[in-house]
Amino acid sequence: AKAMKDEDKLYRHQGILYVTVMSPLENLQALETLEARPDDVLLVAYPKCGFNWMIGMLRKMMVITAGLEKDPEQIPVMEFLSPEMQKILSEYPSPRLLGTHLHLKNIPASFTAKKTKMLVVFRNPKDTAVSYYHFTNKNPVLPKAESWDKFYSEFMSGDVGLGSYFDHALAWEKRVDDPNVMIVTYEYLKQNLVEGVRQVCKFFNFALSEEQIQTIAQGSTFEAMKENSKDSHGQLGNVFFRKGEVGDWKNHFSEAQSKEMDANSSNLAATTSLLTRPGT
Ligand code: A3P
Repeated sequence: AKAMKDEDKLYRHQGILYVTVMSPLENLQALETLEARPDDVLLVAYPKCGFNWMIGMLRKMMVITAGLEKDPEQIPVMEFLSPEMQKILSEYPSPRLLGTHLHLKNIPASFTAKKTKMLVVFRNPKDTAVSYYHFTNKNPVLPKAESWDKFYSEFMSGDVGLGSYFDHALAWEKRVDDPNVMIVTYEYLKQNLVEGVRQVCKFFNFALSEEQIQTIAQGSTFEAMKENSKDSHGQLGNVFFRKGEVGDWKNHFSEAQSKEMDANSSNLAATTSLLTRPGT
């Protein structure tokens, strides 16, 4: 098969870019009628904010509390599911573990109507942009970035897969007090992994012992997950688990870029601030 041209790797739908091979339009259209359940466990994260980290931990929690299968083969990202897979999903036993990178307005309406609990992970936008830059250069389903400066401008204008970080985050500002929403940041987890796991268990009413919580946290450090990444993520393992640090942006941003991004994120205090999380 001929390799896909870079310009075909993303397509625009209702103003937002999507990854052509992962989320073709038929997937998005089928999602509009996806039926949520009140006891679904839904993880939401903009790309590169720590989705794989958190979904790995949720899976470990649910292996214990809900008898979920250990096999991490299928990462249930809803927009990656074909219409056929979405049908199969509708027959899964409860509770289901689901994830999404979609903006709040594009998450199937049924999740809000059923009051499904949603865990949202955010990361500071500078490190998110740097992580995305490396990811787009290493992942064959995404277009190559011509340069950091070019990618930076695309990130700022939202012309990257899954659209604008800032729009994504802003929508959640209005939901921070919703009892069915918990927001946690990447930076919080880096500093307080055990407490983060404990809070997530509390939010979803997962009955885990203190020892089980400690074990999950220990097995979910960057080092532990990177070591296991071939098994969990195959060939792209080292692409998903790259550096795992806070502040790598300092190796990429110019002074002007840093200032511009600070100005752009000044209205995102509630969703991206380390101090306000985890939400209570
Ligand atoms: P870097 O590229 O900065 O290393 P996502 O899973 O949403 O695609 O996010 C990927 C980012 O999360 C990558 O950031 C990756 O290294 C980081 N990450 C994954 N697992 C992690 C962990 N256990 N601890 C800290 N960072 C982790």
